[in-house]
Amino acid sequence: MAVQATPSTLNLTLSAEHEDLRRAVRDFARKEILPVAAHFDETGEFPMEIVRKMGEMGLMGIEVPEEYGGAGMDTIAYVLTMEEIAKADAATSTILSVNNSLVCHGLLKFGTEAQKQKYLRDVASGAKIGAYSLTEPMSGSDAGTMKSRAVLSEDGTHYIINGRKSWVTSGPVADYVILFTMTEPEKKHHGITAFIIETDKEGFAAGKKEPKLGIRASATSELIFENYRCPVENVLGTVGQGFKIAMTVLDAGRIGIAAQALGIAEAAYEASVEYARQREAFGAPIGSFQMIQAKIADMKTRIEASRLLIYSAALAKERSKQTGERYTTEASMAKLFASETAMFCAHAAVQIHGGMGYSRELPIERYFRDAKITEIYEGTSEIQRLVIARNELGLR
Ligand code: CAA
Repeated sequence: MAVQATPSTLNLTLSAEHEDLRRAVRDFARKEILPVAAHFDETGEFPMEIVRKMGEMGLMGIEVPEEYGGAGMDTIAYVLTMEEIAKADAATSTILSVNNSLVCHGLLKFGTEAQKQKYLRDVASGAKIGAYSLTEPMSGSDAGTMKSRAVLSEDGTHYIINGRKSWVTSGPVADYVILFTMTEPEKKHHGITAFIIETDKEGFAAGKKEPKLGIRASATSELIFENYRCPVENVLGTVGQGFKIAMTVLDAGRIGIAAQALGIAEAAYEASVEYARQREAFGAPIGSFQMIQAKIADMKTRIEASRLLIYSAALAKERSKQTGERYTTEASMAKLFASETAMFCAHAAVQIHGGMGYSRELPIERYFRDAKITEIYEGTSEIQRLVIARNELGLR
């Protein structure tokens, strides 16, 4: 029996609108970000002006409906944006990613109408900057074992929060933080609650800024809570739902980090192709040598495979908006493969460029330093493998 395949079900072509968006973001990134990326990497300054401009373009709340101050676009638009911004500067794309996936997505999915009006609108429009705070000095991958505490006040109007969080992207500049902390420690995962924190209130301080290997322009710091009084209406979701919110939001975040990794990989790859065409050794362009060709072939193949996994995860997230189904495995696979591809490509790019790859005169060494974080934050590669395998095996 002849079975007819229907091509439209496997159409991987981007729509004209997506292509237009990609072009607009690429032009912006080339004009406004690329020329200053080395400066911000060197100084570690936060690129506030660029962040404000991204806000004006609607890039700080890409998937947030327009009624809440966002651009009302889809997840494909989000990953295209992340890829193009990361290609120019990974650090800037980190700021974008946390604001979009971890903060806007969390507020949109779990916030009350009042919280959306009060907080989401400003974060999605880029008027305010958001941060997400799960990690603590003694709990990274094992996120359920946090030491910080929130205790309900005697009159029941506030939670009193104490403790120290770490590795918070945009921590020193954030206006609002989605904070995960223990309200009922004896319940373990089910004792964690999410809160919306206003950082200009007493009892909050951004602590030590991390001196990082890469993504240096994205400010990362500790957060210190000393008797911070958070009104009960700032509980995000329900009391005890925090761990699930943290994980749900990380599923979205991991797709963004995968797209960031793709952007870094492509930047490293494109520079390598250019260099392999021009640089001569032994009387011929180095691209004519098979050992360089093998590197180029492996880079390109892994980049295109990453792209497919990222689009597949983005489409799964789009479907989830209708069905509510989780897309955990798709997100973890995309992040795992794309981040290892970024590291592979950055490593190969340094090797292809030789001494110039090691020099700070070219951005190649920056790609190498920036790529590494994609294998660590929002869940290490080891955690992604664990998540994928547990889901496939039906284990907990
Ligand atoms: N979506 C919804 N719920 C989820 C979930 C998901 N993706 N994953 C787990 N859960 C739920 C489970 O269903 C379970 O719920 P019940 O108890 O009600 O059944 C509960 O959460 C506990 O799940 P597990 O037993 O699987 O929990 P675990 O302790 O074994 O941990 C883990 C699982 C996957 C290792 C998790 O802790 C994890 O992802 N760790 C990595 C944390 C991480 O990515 N940290 C990065 C922080 S952000 C950052 O990097 C900084 C930044 O600013 C960018």
